[in-house]
Amino acid sequence: MTKYESFEQDVLVIGAGGAGLRAAIEASDLGMNVGLVCKSLLGKAHTVMAEGGVAAALANVETRDNWKVHFRDTMRGGKMLNNYRMAQIHAQEAPDRVRELEAWGAVFDRTKDGRILQRNFGGHLYPRLAHVGDRTGLEMIRTLQDKTVHSKNVKVHMECTIYKLLTNDGRICGAIGYWRETGRFIVFKAKAVILATGGVGKSFKITSNSWEYTGDGQAIAFEAGADLIDMEFVQFHPTGMIWPLSVKGTLVTEGVRGEGGVLRNSKNERFMFKYIPEIFKKDYADTEDEARRWLDGDKAARRPPELLTRDVVARAINSEFKAGRASTHGGAYLDIASQRDGEYIKRKLPSMYHQFKELADVDITKQAMEVGPTTHYIMGGVKVDGETAQSTLPGLFAAGEVAGGMHGSNRLGGNSLSDLLVFGRRAGMGAAQYVKDLRTTATLKEAEIDTTCKEMLAPMERASGENPYVIVQELQEIMQNHVGIIRNENELSEGLAKIQKLKPRVDNVRVEGGRAYNPGWHQALDLRAMFICSEAIAKAALLRKESRGGHSREDFPNYDKELGKINFVIKKSGPHEMQLVKQPLPEMPADLAELFKGD
Ligand code: FUM
Repeated sequence: MTKYESFEQDVLVIGAGGAGLRAAIEASDLGMNVGLVCKSLLGKAHTVMAEGGVAAALANVETRDNWKVHFRDTMRGGKMLNNYRMAQIHAQEAPDRVRELEAWGAVFDRTKDGRILQRNFGGHLYPRLAHVGDRTGLEMIRTLQDKTVHSKNVKVHMECTIYKLLTNDGRICGAIGYWRETGRFIVFKAKAVILATGGVGKSFKITSNSWEYTGDGQAIAFEAGADLIDMEFVQFHPTGMIWPLSVKGTLVTEGVRGEGGVLRNSKNERFMFKYIPEIFKKDYADTEDEARRWLDGDKAARRPPELLTRDVVARAINSEFKAGRASTHGGAYLDIASQRDGEYIKRKLPSMYHQFKELADVDITKQAMEVGPTTHYIMGGVKVDGETAQSTLPGLFAAGEVAGGMHGSNRLGGNSLSDLLVFGRRAGMGAAQYVKDLRTTATLKEAEIDTTCKEMLAPMERASGENPYVIVQELQEIMQNHVGIIRNENELSEGLAKIQKLKPRVDNVRVEGGRAYNPGWHQALDLRAMFICSEAIAKAALLRKESRGGHSREDFPNYDKELGKINFVIKKSGPHEMQLVKQPLPEMPADLAELFKGD
């Protein structure tokens, strides 16, 4: 038997970004003994990359705002493929979650009369994003972290990677992984598990995600038998840095456009006026003059087209590139210097000011930034029930980016931060209730633990084999070039074939050195999850023969009416098989459907 350390918890939360922290707080408040696992250090999470704000219809700046308008914007942004119940719960509960955060000590920017200030963002009809300059995610993590460490019975396990979920009798009973520092194995016996592991961005070459985001949660859930949903929908945030190369992909917050930043091509044309989709024409200005009046506070003016949803803006930048009108390094110019004075820019966007000064030697109060699309978020993920956040596997819950359904085919900026608060809390509640209702506890299977330990050790025990970094690089090239922002049948089929050809090589990777902090070994173990997610994305993208939200098919450029009524659900159908199943969208109740009359 391989040796391992063990812990026993009522609820194990895997992932300590905003969703994981919020879930842990709730489960602890409900009397659970909670384990909170972080892949890296506590506080280091992709949540901080949602810089520009948290979306909630507080109506502090625009009194016409309310949960129904937020719900409608979210559904329209997701091109109606969202789980309507999740979008409804989200819009209804987000204001309370933001006020609760304020009560826990989050420092928001303020209106003149002292209320939480809200800013504009893409796809939100009214200024809705509560923010702290351009460091909102960071402030949220700081507040939630502080609250978590003062919560009862929460044990934080840092630098720990979970490799597999453990099940017995068709339900969750724990998880197994390793300490990154020592390489020793760790087994958690848990009555319920909440996944809050974030996204999959590291399977793409250009991404705003850091090294942790290898799709672990989606993959271990799938392997354990839970369904995935909407995996074809990946969000390419329109504005990542593109120069210098060493920082390519680093996020440039949408807050820049929210504060008035405009996009121009190499001919100095403000090109977004050309890309306003028909259904949004009534809300978006089509002249510079009207856009300027809106910026100056004229409530009768329509919004600037730079505030269209991310999918539209990212595709527009790509089209300008294809038409030969890209910026020097292949993107677009994002200019706020011509729209706002220097002091305003430094006050509202301090991180962006420093980021460009330090990394690119660009002063954004005087010069335009160069930006281009970067893989930022996956709308798809573990299929959950909106009320409880429980997956299709009893005892397994998911919240935040790892869960699918809430955002449909495209997420609005700022909705990720409110999503993780709303559904992090619901996952904590759902898991606690599940534990309280349990009559018996499932037992761990020692043989399975032993086999898993041996599987994890295999890359170190092979006499020869491939370097895992080579495989990662090849996978990132495939995903970027074949499953990227603009897709078609040929490229997707070729990409999928390449993924399937590359996959067996994962079983032959070899790493040098021992188990104590060995990044090569960690990379080798991350590969399995990266391949499961990449295959799921490519397969679902191939089947969705239409363009919708984050999924753009140049061979099927329009919506397909029938596909607009279904989600693709991915089920495990054999030891290594994925089955894609069409699942009809639940019918929206009449009072909600009424909100879309005339669309
Ligand atoms: O652009 C941003 O600040 C990112 C926000 C988000 O992804 O929600």
